[in-house]
Amino acid sequence: MMRIALGVTGGVAAYKAAELVRRLQQEQIEIQVVMTRSAQEFVAPLTFAALTGQKVITQLFGAEAPANVESAIEHIAVAQRIDALVIAPATADIIAKLARGVADDFLTTLYLATTAPVVVAPAMNVNMWEHAATRENVQILRDRGVRVIAPEEGYLACGMTGAGRLAGLEAIIEAVLEALRIRRDLEKETVLVTAGPTCEDLDPVRFLTNRSSGRMGYAVAEAAARRGARVVLISGPVALEAPAGVERVDVRTTEQMHRAVLANLDRATVVVMAAAVADYRPARPYANKLKRGTERLNIEFEPTADILADVSRRKGDRVLVGFAAETAQLAAHARSKLKEKAADLIVANDVTAPGAGFDHDTNIVTIFGSDGREQSLPKLTKIQVAHRILDEVVELRRSTHRVGSSPEAR
Ligand code: CTP
Repeated sequence: MMRIALGVTGGVAAYKAAELVRRLQQEQIEIQVVMTRSAQEFVAPLTFAALTGQKVITQLFGAEAPANVESAIEHIAVAQRIDALVIAPATADIIAKLARGVADDFLTTLYLATTAPVVVAPAMNVNMWEHAATRENVQILRDRGVRVIAPEEGYLACGMTGAGRLAGLEAIIEAVLEALRIRRDLEKETVLVTAGPTCEDLDPVRFLTNRSSGRMGYAVAEAAARRGARVVLISGPVALEAPAGVERVDVRTTEQMHRAVLANLDRATVVVMAAAVADYRPARPYANKLKRGTERLNIEFEPTADILADVSRRKGDRVLVGFAAETAQLAAHARSKLKEKAADLIVANDVTAPGAGFDHDTNIVTIFGSDGREQSLPKLTKIQVAHRILDEVVELRRSTHRVGSSPEAR
């Protein structure tokens, strides 16, 4: 059963949310209602509690229950549980808050905390809807991938006529179903993801590594799991927790990562290699701790195995995605990696650009396809980038009519 959170905000159309709940229930969707303070001026929470059989969330910190850890992190629990966040009706105020990332009540906090798709159905006075500020905020949300269902024209509660009426329930339900459908589009796939850095030992206490935080790969794993895939995450040492429902295999060295990838390749239908793999390792690591000396020290390095290139040789029908971390000539390098490594997609980023690369929550990438397509994305969160990559993966699986075929079946 699919689960959504329905945010109800303060407008005359709030009463329509009760009917929306009923209709969504008919679609076998479980609904957790979240009301803002002003919504409660229009409709009593009891209405929604009676319809859903669940407690309606009305505030960030429970007044009825004493403040405790459970209520303090409930927005995180709800955020992880839901398959979509729907806000209907959405006031100009909530739209402005979402656009700016204000988090001063349960609903706005939930919006920031969830990685589920978001559907917003605005309803307001026509002048408010057409105001440049609202226009701008709506555009920000749309650019971020939020589905905003434009209000309808008609007679408004304020006595004016124009655009501002909550969209028809059919249109809202359609958008919600679409958001939920897209989200389960990897149900038949097994996605193998590599993430994080690798470490190469110089002596028992020293090693060479890189600045990868693992966040991009973990975001891909999380997004794929949310979309219904079985996910095997082969991870170098990072300070992140495995996303819910993901099988994590911990490795340290490139050799270990290589072995873990090959051991899990058979069951994978999609391979995403986001790890920042060491290209060289000390040729002769010291058995004992290297002592301080006064002479110059030369260390000889030898190349490590190219895991991606190795996987591409055994590619079969799998969709193969590589990453390219570059500091110069992004497009040229990405295109040559696409060819050399025979990947279907190369996700390239300039790691020196502000808001991109290591240790950021955001990334700015261009996706290069082996069909010659090139897609430059704006600055997005890593989870959003992950979903864009997976959108392309789904397309590739579909275009070759391979959706769901297991590697063993071929
Ligand atoms: N990769 C890999 N095994 C390696 C090195 C890289 O599997 N030994 C993978 C990475 O996970 C990434 C892609 O290859 O998906 C490109 O990695 P990157 O470090 O950008 O490129 P390199 O192939 O190492 O080339 P260069 O260092 O010359 O840019």
